[in-house]
Amino acid sequence: MKNLLKMSDLTREDINLILNKADQLKFEHKNGIEHRLLAGKTLAMIFNKSSTRTRVSFEAGMYQLGGHALFLSSADLQISRGEPLEDTARVLFRYVDGIMIRTFAQQEVEDLALHSGLPVVNGLTDYAHPCQSLANLMTVRENFAYLEGLKACYIGDGNNVCNSFVVGCVISGMTVTVACPEGYEPHPDVLKLAGDKLTITRDPKEAALGADVVYTDVWMSMGQEEEARTRKEVFGNYQVNSELMKLASKDAIVLHCLPAHRGEEITAEVFDAHAGVIFDEAENRLHAQKAVLAILMGG
Ligand code: CP
Ligand code: NVA
Repeated sequence: MKNLLKMSDLTREDINLILNKADQLKFEHKNGIEHRLLAGKTLAMIFNKSSTRTRVSFEAGMYQLGGHALFLSSADLQISRGEPLEDTARVLFRYVDGIMIRTFAQQEVEDLALHSGLPVVNGLTDYAHPCQSLANLMTVRENFAYLEGLKACYIGDGNNVCNSFVVGCVISGMTVTVACPEGYEPHPDVLKLAGDKLTITRDPKEAALGADVVYTDVWMSMGQEEEARTRKEVFGNYQVNSELMKLASKDAIVLHCLPAHRGEEITAEVFDAHAGVIFDEAENRLHAQKAVLAILMGG
């Protein structure tokens, strides 16, 4: 494991290694046990899109590991004035020990990994959000103690979060049903990788039936602002609400990567009823990413 670019680069063993390390780091952090595994190391964090959780959890995580994180808005970098990403990558190699990047095209993240010679972590692209998927799996495992054989569903847009959620679940031995409108399915690569472990339906009720894990994300991702009106119409029926939750397993957990739009992809009622686990998931971003950084940058 040299980078974390997308979930399909990981094996089940890689995921287990990350989740076990994350559990250990979470325990140690909660019990005041210091773990300065990255003392003296620097992580450059390039942001081409907004963020709350990703920025704060990576920055706090690096500090807790004894290292340092640099927040770099791409608008302030020479990239915004035309310096090629390749040159930026080669320069960063001379200064820092790892790069986390949040941007639009997955290819940029792949190119950065190729040219920088440094460990690269994908902090969200239009295609993937692997850090979120690891936090999901960590949270699911905390609640059920295992992953294999669980039944998950995803209601809504087959977007970056959905792609990584599906791949993470399938690699971990879970089955997934995605309920989405026609034309909003997960990426073709995800459909291919998941094979018969993934079912696509137009009916959210069919997806939720007997599900152990119910997942959703916003109807409109960053960069899709112009499609807002169309998307609100298209996704109107794809909402996690109390009626839908009656069909899920009685011990089902609800996950959301956040930020949430109450009244759109999830009702306030369901959100509030499951807020404990949803915010555990947000917290687990910190622990899962620290595990990834420790593995990739720890030497
Ligand atoms: N879930 C997530 O990635 O949140 P941010 O956009 O706030 O980083
Ligand atoms: N799908 C959302 C996730 C935000 C964390 C987006 O890309 O904007």
